[in-house]
Amino acid sequence: MGEFSHKPVLLREVLTGLDIRPDGVYADGTLGGGGHAEAILERIPNGTYIAVDQDPEALAAATARLAPFGDRLRVFRANYEQLPDILRREAPKGADGILLDLGVSSYQLDSPERGFSYRADGPLDMRMDPDGPVTAADIVNTESQETITKILRDYGEEKFAAVIARNIVSAREKAPIETTGQLTDIVRRSIPRKAQAGEGHPAKRTFQALRIAANRELDVLEQTLDGLIDVLAPGGRLAVITFHSLEDRIVKNAFRTAEHPCICPPSFPVCTCGRVSKGKVITRKPILPSEEELAENRRAASAKLRIFQKAPGSGFDAPVYGTLYPKGTKIKHLPDGTIELIVPEE
Ligand SMILES: C[S@@+](CC[C@H](N)C(=O)[O-])C[C@H]1O[C@@H](n2cnc3c(N)ncnc32)[C@H](O)[C@@H]1O
Repeated sequence: MGEFSHKPVLLREVLTGLDIRPDGVYADGTLGGGGHAEAILERIPNGTYIAVDQDPEALAAATARLAPFGDRLRVFRANYEQLPDILRREAPKGADGILLDLGVSSYQLDSPERGFSYRADGPLDMRMDPDGPVTAADIVNTESQETITKILRDYGEEKFAAVIARNIVSAREKAPIETTGQLTDIVRRSIPRKAQAGEGHPAKRTFQALRIAANRELDVLEQTLDGLIDVLAPGGRLAVITFHSLEDRIVKNAFRTAEHPCICPPSFPVCTCGRVSKGKVITRKPILPSEEELAENRRAASAKLRIFQKAPGSGFDAPVYGTLYPKGTKIKHLPDGTIELIVPEE
């Protein structure tokens, strides 16, 4: 079993970005080893930290580490897709900040029996929630060759997806693929030797793809971001750390839509769709780790942090309906989520 020695990624940037208040309510959808949690709890002597993780081993380790904070910490075993409901119950006035630090922890990667690692042999599992319905072995042993190709291509951006999928299907006809070692061997045989040089471990992309599929990682992210914004208190912030381009794109698009939800054609003088901005993206570009952090933590290499701030007050004003504006009036969406009407001169 690995150690929970996970170094919190982009820690300084998260602490600044969440603009922590000593009496605030903060939430964490990916508690892991509790690294970010500990640093935030140290800064909220009169506050509350509500945290979930779907991995009971992570929860046990984090709960022990964070015991000195007493009942300022409330922990639940759950997928973060349930966090909006948990927060509605536990923090009815809303959260001042919410953190998602996506992906697997070093601990999970370093525990061969969890099946995330292509470097050590173990059962081909990869479930972050050990009671989850689908393992990586289920996918490679039961899905069609087309589906496996698509998973490897879409989630792993694997150039040799079709060859790997074909070799998986021919291998499983002889015997089920049950271990990480078996899968790594198949991947090695599928990628030309020349292409294996210099691009990290040849099985890295295949393992990433199967992990994302087994844990529904992208679906959960896409379906939950908006709900998390909804349970922020006015002025509260949602910070999300991603580790690959597909996740980052989902966060970027969800934040942009939350800021500018209006779908009226640009020629409409006033907004009639009724969609109201929920706040603003406060990171126009993602925040990346410093050189210093990169030098001491390999896991930070692909990390990107984006932050959304909920509108202060009760929300941005909805556009006025039924008001007549002169022909040619244009709507300009301002970065703070409000709109400005540009009325043509008489
Ligand atoms: C990168 S680690 C978090 C590390 C943590 N921020 C720290 O500083 O120690 C990610 C954790 O999130 C959990 N996780 C990933 N996706 C999840 C989800 N959808 N719901 C709940 N927990 C999830 C994993 O089990 C893992 O423990």
